[in-house]
Amino acid sequence: MHDVHREITRWLEPLGAKVYIDAAGNMRAIYPSRETAASGLLVGSHLDTVPKAGAFDGILGVMLAIACLEALGGEKLPYVVEVVGFSEEEGVRFGIPFIGSRALVGRVDNDLLSVQDARGISVRKAIQDFGLDPREIGHAALYPETCVYLEFHIEQGPVLEKLGLPLAAVEAIAGQSRWELTFLGRANHAGTTPMDQRFDALAAAAEWITLVEQVAKTTPGLFATVGSVEARPGATNVIAAEARVTLDVRHRDEAVRSRAVEHLIERAEGVAQHRGLAVRSIQRLNQPAVVMDSFLTSQIEEAIRNTGCTPHRMVSGAGHDAMILAEKVPSAMIFLRTPGGISHDPSESVAIDDVAKAIEAGVRLLHQLASAPTFHSRTCRA
Ligand code: GLV
Ligand code: MN
Ligand code: MN
Repeated sequence: MHDVHREITRWLEPLGAKVYIDAAGNMRAIYPSRETAASGLLVGSHLDTVPKAGAFDGILGVMLAIACLEALGGEKLPYVVEVVGFSEEEGVRFGIPFIGSRALVGRVDNDLLSVQDARGISVRKAIQDFGLDPREIGHAALYPETCVYLEFHIEQGPVLEKLGLPLAAVEAIAGQSRWELTFLGRANHAGTTPMDQRFDALAAAAEWITLVEQVAKTTPGLFATVGSVEARPGATNVIAAEARVTLDVRHRDEAVRSRAVEHLIERAEGVAQHRGLAVRSIQRLNQPAVVMDSFLTSQIEEAIRNTGCTPHRMVSGAGHDAMILAEKVPSAMIFLRTPGGISHDPSESVAIDDVAKAIEAGVRLLHQLASAPTFHSRTCRA
């Protein structure tokens, strides 16, 4: 990440932006306005990835923000443009996503700083090890002048490709729940313990995982995923004493999502009980669905239309930093068509013509917003 920050800084500074890394490890770059005492527009996405990731989820949004500045060719706008490259959006290391963007809305507290990764390193320690001071996290907050957040992102699904359209305006982002469950059984010898006298934590987890899939398949609009399994002690000839699994649940409708989570946790308890095991469950995230700002969304549609493309409006099933920023400032997103709808995989891609359209739409949007009432007063929702 240090290398990424250095590289991106090398691209931003010649454009006239001042770059620094805030205490949450977010890259922040300030492109000055042509006026003193101006409002601000924040634009960006995240720089972290999932394991075995593609090259575009997150980073493309940061690249597009920089490309839009570059396309301005030195022109200054009546508002400050701040480019952000968020840290820890995916939640891979600590099980909790959006850590970087939470710092901007003042939601990195002691509890979050104390969460540990699989090796027992806390968020606080990880920040220190990166060379930053977690006590300074308060200073990572949004500037009071910031009135808008924009995020470009690949769609990560098949919708735009099916419609034959390059760009979309996002009207809402589905909510998500993340849990960690640990089935607790008893270790014993794989060669001597009779099959009917076992308390196999991994077999219990496996039974529950197929139930999760079944429930999601039979509940319209529900997405439920167990993406990680860890067995302990983890040897071929030892019955697993512990199986730690993750659960990711998403739905557009908040009530359906919370009912589904409740049901799946109950089913885990049921599986554990009938096998004579216990199960421990910890909620890692309960992020409500978020509606994007309607004025900005319509401005995005207009910008897309002005590039000669038909704008599409859609709901994002994936989570984004825009969900967090929307707590404090009007926020909106622009999606780019994702070939094959493939994401979170090395074969993730994007078409170069679509990227060109996104830059064109982005620059048009920046100009449209220059005359928008949002930027005529420095009053923000924050
Ligand atoms: C972010 O990639 C998410 O999991 O939605
Ligand atoms: Mn992602
Ligand atoms: Mn992403």
